[in-house]
Amino acid sequence: MPTVSERVVLLPGDGIGPEVAEQARLALEVLAPEVALDERLIGAAAIRATGSPLPQETIDACLSAVAVLKGPVGDPEFEAAEVRPEQGLLALRAALDTYANLRPAVLGEVDVLIVRELVGGLYFGARGVRDDGTVFDTCEYHPRQVERLARWGFRLAESRRGLLTSVDKANVLETSRMWRRVVDEIAPEFPEVQVEHMLVDNAAMQLATTPQQFDVIVTENMFGDILSDLAAAVTGGLGMAPSASLSDGGPGLFEPVHGSAPDIAGRGVANPVAMLRSTALLLEHGLARTEEAEALNRAIEAAIVSSPTIDLGGTASTSDFGAAVREQLAVDGVASSSYGGS
Ligand code: IPM
Ligand code: MG
Repeated sequence: MPTVSERVVLLPGDGIGPEVAEQARLALEVLAPEVALDERLIGAAAIRATGSPLPQETIDACLSAVAVLKGPVGDPEFEAAEVRPEQGLLALRAALDTYANLRPAVLGEVDVLIVRELVGGLYFGARGVRDDGTVFDTCEYHPRQVERLARWGFRLAESRRGLLTSVDKANVLETSRMWRRVVDEIAPEFPEVQVEHMLVDNAAMQLATTPQQFDVIVTENMFGDILSDLAAAVTGGLGMAPSASLSDGGPGLFEPVHGSAPDIAGRGVANPVAMLRSTALLLEHGLARTEEAEALNRAIEAAIVSSPTIDLGGTASTSDFGAAVREQLAVDGVASSSYGGS
């Protein structure tokens, strides 16, 4: 039985999930052959097998693993159902308390890191239906939730170009006014970081027109969800965007920003870049293997040039792309030199 520190849970998910997860698995087997991959169910696949989008055994396996690598979840079959695949994802994020969701978007001059709060706000506030038929979701934040997230933003900005943009809707929302206050209270602890506040509508416009102005963006859950799709769109598309969701010391959750793409599922044409880049984030943040993470990212870049998938204007299938990544890793000599004999 592998020890805890050697076990990574793999949750392939729905739609194109299993196809892109397979390429991640093959890459990890090359880069970290001694790590045991423990495959479990989440999302629609889990509902079909167990009735629950997040079975207890998946939660237990994740909580005791060193990290979790997850494909997208979601299936049109359950769109209007009482029990939905996405509930499994939200429950997993909450169970792991992975509140700091890092979503890098890099292309040419653009290098923005969105730090999205992941376990609060509208996604987790009180919701329901009133007697008169009114339906409501509430956005709730405790200052401590903002503080711990903001510290991630400051620390990351400090290690990068030193600009932190806190995005809110303080001209309308109470939670946003508190958010601003908390960010300003923490700012003196990070004298090297320049802080600016930006309203979310303006931030969307600025991201679409001059994304190169941003370094680190820190924002609440829903704003971060929307802005990260936008940031992905201006840096090569959703197929390219990875994410790392981190907690205070527990296992991290690594997953693409994109959804399960049911329209192209099962055809072997999905772009696995977001999933592979999420695997690189896992190597870096989950397994502390910076060298292997860098090698994987280099191999992904090479494969984007040599074997682009259809969404990138090429003809490569999902598995062609994965094979090109592994060939590049072999050319780099990463696998054999780092782990010879293991
Ligand atoms: C994301 C996704 C999820 C989210 C969905 C699938 C619940 O859009 O990770 O960005 O909204 O957080
Ligand atoms: Mg999203």
